[in-house]
Formats: sequence, C-alpha cells, structure tokens
Amino acid sequence: MTTTVHVPLGDRAYDISIAPGNLDRVGALVAPRLKGRKVLVVADETVARLHGARLEASLRAAGLTPVIATFPAGEPSKTVTTAERMWAAAAAAKIDRSDAVLGFGGGVSGDLAGFVAACWMRGVRFLQVPTTLLAMVDSSVGGKTGVNSAAGKNLVGAFCQPAAVVIDPALVQTMDRREYRAGLAEILKYGIINDPAFLAWQEANAEALEAGDPAAVAHAVAESCRIKAWYVEQDETEQGVRAHLNYGHTFGHALERETKYTAYLHGEAVGIGMRMAADLARRTGLLTDDTLIRRQDALLTRYRLPLAHPAPPALAATLAAHCALDKKVEKGATRFILPVKIGTVEMVTAPGVGFVEAAFAAGLEVPGRGERGEGRGDTATAMVPSPSHG
Ligand code: GLY
Repeated sequence: MTTTVHVPLGDRAYDISIAPGNLDRVGALVAPRLKGRKVLVVADETVARLHGARLEASLRAAGLTPVIATFPAGEPSKTVTTAERMWAAAAAAKIDRSDAVLGFGGGVSGDLAGFVAACWMRGVRFLQVPTTLLAMVDSSVGGKTGVNSAAGKNLVGAFCQPAAVVIDPALVQTMDRREYRAGLAEILKYGIINDPAFLAWQEANAEALEAGDPAAVAHAVAESCRIKAWYVEQDETEQGVRAHLNYGHTFGHALERETKYTAYLHGEAVGIGMRMAADLARRTGLLTDDTLIRRQDALLTRYRLPLAHPAPPALAATLAAHCALDKKVEKGATRFILPVKIGTVEMVTAPGVGFVEAAFAAGLEVPGRGERGEGRGDTATAMVPSPSHG
C-alpha cells in the first residue's frame, strides 16, 4: 500500500511517496516532475553498491539517464570538497538547468546532494531517495541541505526543497541494527512533541518496530513524514514552530560535541537529550507530572537506545557550556524545546544555568546502564524481517 504525504509549499509543493518496493518505482514517480532527462545520482559507495543497480534500472525504465557520482560513506565526506567533486561530475555529464540531482542514501547523501543541486547553475531540481530510517523520517523531508566546515556542522548550506521524495521502507532491512535504532529516537520524538495517538501506537507496536517489522516500519515512516511535513508547511525556514523538531537536540548536540562525534550516533544522542529536556521541563515547572517522562523512558528502553551518558555529574557544567556554541543560540541566549504535555512543546529561552546543569546531570550515568550494551556495538548485524511480527 502506498501512502502519499503532500507538502503544500505553493510552487515548491511536492509529494513524499512511501511504499515497500518503491525503489523500483522511483523513475515512474519522479519522471513527471522533471523537464530534462539526465539525473545526477549522488550516493555513498555502500548504498550505490547495495541498491544502485535497482535505482538505475528504474530511472532508465522511465526514459531517464542516470549518471552515478559516488563518495566514501560517512560524515567526513559531507564537505565542500566532496561537493566540488559532485559539481565536476555534473559538468562532465553536462547536467543543465532542466536536469536533476538525486540524493541516494542516508542524511549525508541527501544533505550533500541538496547542496550540490542548490548551487549547480544556481539551482536545479532536487530529488530525495533516502535509504536509512533517520533520513526517511527526518532529513529527506523539508529542504535543509548543506555541508560541514571548519566553522562547525551544517553551518554552510541552503534551503532547497526536493521536487519529490520517494521512500522504500523495506530498505531499512539492510541497515545495521544500531543505526536503525538511532532512527527510532526521532520517531519517538514526533509522538512526544506532536501526536499523542502516534505515541500510543508506538507503545502498542514498539517491539515490532524495533525488530523492523515491514508493516510497522511503513506506518511509522508515513506518520513521521506526515508530522514533519506539517511543521515544514507551517514554517519552511524555521522562523518559529519548525524549531520544535529540535526537541532533545540542544542537549544531544552538546553530548555529541563533548564526545567528539565518536561515542553516539545522532539519534542516540537525541534520545538522551530528550530525557534531559524532559527533566529540565519538570525542574522548571513546565511539566507538572512524571507521566511523559515515564512513557518516554519506557519507549527509549524498548527501542534499546542508551538512556544516559556514563560520566560523573561534574561533566554537566562542561556540557552546559557547550550549549552556548549551539546553532540554536540567538542573541546570546540558549533556547530549549521543552515538553508541556504529550503532544505539546514550548520554546524556552535561557532557563537559568543552574537548571540546565541539573538537567544535564540527570542524563549522566544511571545505575545498571552497563547492561544496555546491546544498543551499541553490534554494528555488523543486518536486520532480518521478524516473522513473529509479520
Ligand atoms: N531536522 C529538523 C528540521 O528539519 O527542521
């Protein structure tokens, strides 16, 4: 069954098509959105090896001409140097204004391809075919593109809405388990910030979703895209409500920065950050009971995500200092997205450094976290469909 989520942005409106098997339909789905025939496919080498042939076949079957440009998988590739290589590939393939650039892979491929598309000839059509759970539910939707630089992560970039997003949720079956689970943190986030019914659905289906059950994954991806599209529609360039999507991120970024981006996958850090944000909300009186905290903790546990960072409480002051460097700082004041109740969050500016440090401390070292090793380190294991949840 196909779910189509429409992103209504006037002359930049587009559809997100979500269905198992969609990889074989990319050509048919995107061809009506294109003028030219050439498509520069920007893909990391791993994804190109695993799924490139199917994508190429589907584009060719629709009368399109794919030109594959690959780069080494991983965040270190998200640079202007890689973008320059992609522009060289665009020049060699004679990609012109009528043609398109397609991001194929995880967040790095999508962000890079979008930046390449936004700049090439001052902007060509951009298509997104995400292959990781995180990219399916977050980065492929909404048009944030860019590269990392010496100045920091994602500080150089452009808003470039895709002309179409094609999602094949079945592709998560080839993801490594840890990376897959990291994507579940963002799915949990959507339930907490926006949709009590989606949170309740996750509570009823957590094990199926964690195991990668195809129907559960397809539903969670479709719901997440629907919610993300709503924020993008309200506030395309993040002047207001779109910032709510950053729930857990200010805390999570501080943790990522402190651990030099090596200890945690982004979603894992966001999961711990969501716990810290909920603690801050409780401490400041915005959140008046513990229900949200309990339900959030229970789902993080069932998704086998880390609950806390193993470090002494003294690290809290260092982490709080990192917040001052976060992108979300405006006019010197750090802003946090904090929950009021399930489905409702608020932006809170400068809640007081004592509160912030205490909230960081609440996400440091919990007894028994050593038993939680399964969520981390089993990187070589691919997902297999779970017959018990079929
Ligand atoms: N990842 C948050 C956003 O797209 O706004």
